[in-house]
Amino acid sequence: MTAGASAPLTYCGSFPGRKACMRPKVAVIGAGHVGATTAQRILETELADVTLIDLIEGLPQGKALDMMQSAPILGCDAIVTGSNDVADVEGADVVIITAGLARKPGMSRDDLLAKNAGIIAELSRAVRDNAPDAIIIMVTNPLDVMTAVAHHETGFARERVMGMAGVLDSARLRCFIAMELGCSVKEVSAMVLGGHGDSMVPLPRYCTVGGIALPQLLPAERIEQLVERTRSGGAEIGRLLKTASAYYAPAASAAAMAASILRDQKQILPVCTLLQGEYGIKDVFVGVPVRLGRKGVEDVIELDLTDEESAALAVSAEHVRESMNKVGL
Ligand code: LAC
Repeated sequence: MTAGASAPLTYCGSFPGRKACMRPKVAVIGAGHVGATTAQRILETELADVTLIDLIEGLPQGKALDMMQSAPILGCDAIVTGSNDVADVEGADVVIITAGLARKPGMSRDDLLAKNAGIIAELSRAVRDNAPDAIIIMVTNPLDVMTAVAHHETGFARERVMGMAGVLDSARLRCFIAMELGCSVKEVSAMVLGGHGDSMVPLPRYCTVGGIALPQLLPAERIEQLVERTRSGGAEIGRLLKTASAYYAPAASAAAMAASILRDQKQILPVCTLLQGEYGIKDVFVGVPVRLGRKGVEDVIELDLTDEESAALAVSAEHVRESMNKVGL
């Protein structure tokens, strides 16, 4: 265990026992607010060792070292290291991709789409080459299309390439329901389908509070207001923060998905996945409930939808398909 006095004191990660360590490895690409907060959650739950990767020299190393210094206080033995080399995804069981540009003033959604598609394509090829057995969780926006890009570039099976959005969107709805009813968030479950954007499809019929269907507890107009607030949940936070977008809930969502995978919890969660005929939709990445376990998306669960709900999901999927077409998919 002891290193000789002549060994250099590296910033972190110089643990002679590391190679024999049985903890899984998560690589988080992008050390901004979302990426770093995701790494922190994974460290604090000792879910895995984390390699935090970013282009900016010193940024992932600095954040990793800072997190490692929190570990003795928190009593966590997981290891976080920083790297500027995407090849360090090597050996990762799960790769969480948060890198990419945020929309800048004057930049259209399509400009952002093209720019991020280029970045994600390059990163995905690096994952394919260096971590060929990994499961990818995409977080970069526009989420559904970026997941499609990663799937296309890696050639991984659909089970192993998914996007994080439904967990976040349904967490927002759960939060608003609990705030409205003045009850524990733990009592509330919610389901939000569709793409991550204005056309997402919250399903109040499938929301429950202590097992009671939401429509029995709140009038339809009030539910509609909570649904609307959920749809613009990201924008509401963006307006408040002014120079950033949400990151605590997105990071918690990505980490929860990684936990369901690595601990084989088989949680039923809304996840952006490639539909191959389910819900009457084919070859589009869109959010639907899945069983998430050690193999990734182990099953797509088909809910019984009303005509109206089905139509809304079809519209949402069409929006994603149009954006996929814009980047040549
Ligand atoms: C959100 C954006 C950033 O929903 O996707 O918070």
